[in-house]
Amino acid sequence: MHLKNNLYSIDKKLLLTAGAKVNESTLNRIARRAGEIHYIKVKSTPLIKDLKYTFSDERYEVMLSPEETNKKILKIAGEISIPKLLLKELASIKKKLPYTYHHILIITILSAKVALDHHLENRYDIGRVMRLGLAHDIGKSRIPQQILNKTKPLTPQERKIIRMHPLLGYILLHYYYGKEHNKYDYASYEHHERLDGSGYPRKLKKINRYSQLISIIDTLDALISRRPYRRAPYTLRSAVDFLLNEAKKGRLNKRLVYLLITYARKDKPLLRGLKVSTKRRDFLPVYNVYGKTIHN
Ligand SMILES: [Fe+2]
Ligand SMILES: [Fe+2]
Repeated sequence: MHLKNNLYSIDKKLLLTAGAKVNESTLNRIARRAGEIHYIKVKSTPLIKDLKYTFSDERYEVMLSPEETNKKILKIAGEISIPKLLLKELASIKKKLPYTYHHILIITILSAKVALDHHLENRYDIGRVMRLGLAHDIGKSRIPQQILNKTKPLTPQERKIIRMHPLLGYILLHYYYGKEHNKYDYASYEHHERLDGSGYPRKLKKINRYSQLISIIDTLDALISRRPYRRAPYTLRSAVDFLLNEAKKGRLNKRLVYLLITYARKDKPLLRGLKVSTKRRDFLPVYNVYGKTIHN
């Protein structure tokens, strides 16, 4: 894969020049160039206040109850350390792309919420889930805003550019995490992949379980958010129907989608014996050009 433009880190280092080939050796070089990484604990940064505020997002009122779990998530979040440059990157996203910033924080806490479920039998390290959530969409900051905010269908070229964000984030994370990069960079690269190989950018069928979790929450939030490319967002119900259908088609992890549903329902059903129907039970947004290009 080749880059279209120069790629700079948040501290203005030129990481790759336009046209550069991205491969193992260029990526390793970037990780080595990072040198010693300066970490900072989340609780001593503005991020902790923003994460706390994110719990008050009304759209997730049902999913983000009860209160005790939220406190637990916030406590774990406070204890994780992230590279100072990643923090700087997030601060810049907050200013430039407030929607993306809120989205990133929502993904971080909701993924932690699902990962805390005892049905997953401690298969997830919650701190790692949150680090991956915080890093998953940083590549968006390198996509021109006029493309991100477009209200009309994208041109094939624009779609190609947007689809670069997983790779751009992945490259940036090599620099921000240095030699520790492979612990925290993969969800950025994989969160738009689908288990049947229909995702992007690599059409993977084998996807890391952390990335699978992030991608389900990511899809949910993308659907129920107000976006320029549709007049109204999906309702939580129609979004859940959408996820169920994706799971049925073998694109998303069915067990994780089911777990998410147990949180999304007011009566908080148990996973065992959970009844779901894949019939459409709610209306879809009227004008929605998400994922469409002018040629389809
Ligand atoms: Fe993304
Ligand atoms: Fe995302």
